Amino acid sequence: MSDIRKLTPETITDAVLEQMAGTPDPRLKEIMFAAVKHLHAFARETNLTPAEWIKGIEFMTQVGQACTPDRQEAIMLSDTMGLSALINLMHDRTAIEEGTDSSLLGPFYRENTPKVERGAQIVKRLDGPEIALWGRITDVTGAPLANASVSVWQTNAHGLYDTQLDGAPIDYRGVVQTDTDGRYWLRTVRPIGYSIPMDGPVGKLARIQARHGMRPAHIHMMVGAEGYRELITAIYLKGDPHLHDDMVFGVSSDLVAEVKPSDAACPIPRMPSIRFDLKLAREDTTERAMGRVGADPSAIIKGGRVKPSHA
Ligand code: BEZ
Ligand code: FE
Repeated sequence: MSDIRKLTPETITDAVLEQMAGTPDPRLKEIMFAAVKHLHAFARETNLTPAEWIKGIEFMTQVGQACTPDRQEAIMLSDTMGLSALINLMHDRTAIEEGTDSSLLGPFYRENTPKVERGAQIVKRLDGPEIALWGRITDVTGAPLANASVSVWQTNAHGLYDTQLDGAPIDYRGVVQTDTDGRYWLRTVRPIGYSIPMDGPVGKLARIQARHGMRPAHIHMMVGAEGYRELITAIYLKGDPHLHDDMVFGVSSDLVAEVKPSDAACPIPRMPSIRFDLKLAREDTTERAMGRVGADPSAIIKGGRVKPSHA
């Protein structure tokens, strides 16, 4: 009986680490050791009370219960705490070359985005002013990348994604291929800034924290080309009042672009347009450099994860 320890708030952490010390997978061991150390330090630092701890458990339960094939509340929690942006920024450091800045994939990406012809209108139900989006995909030296796939997704002109409109078909999304000169162009609707969904536990927390919940107007992009690192980014529209205080920390100054009322160089004439050129880094196939920060919520709920595709 003498080897039964009397645990204290100071010794409990080591007792847990000792019990987990035989974890065969070294990476799992490293992650769980750090998780336990930091969680215990957090509880000690805040002197967490039983009522606060159970409140946290209730909150995490609600976050899980709010997840569906169309909604990823857990990713939203990560986004609003800046964790997704941090993982993105650390992942960017694994690139062997410096391409265009990345930005959050967010919870509204869908794998089943339809392919469209260059120049096509990706919006089926136009509810606002049309704009053209065009530019060039190159490597970091500026050499054009032909047949790159450029996937675009965004809200409608009222700030809603298709998945937020009850029973609505796929809309405000499309994938185009670049031409031999690396150029892409398409038509879409001018998006506006929007609030992240505020009707779940993450939104409720945001309100209690007196946060506005807004994202500046943006268009998401996922660009892939054979032999190049997949780029997940977004174009942020110049002039939006929330460029400096994005709720999910996705904005980088290099990603801000202007809607020009007319641009003679735009392949789609007589239409306001955004030109956005993107540079892809060469691919590095080591495990650390691979992977995508985020996934289609329907794949997460099924427990499957998505491999980057250059389709
Ligand atoms: C988005 O940009 O689609 C998004 C990102 C994080 C949370 C909510 C929305
Ligand atoms: Fe978005």
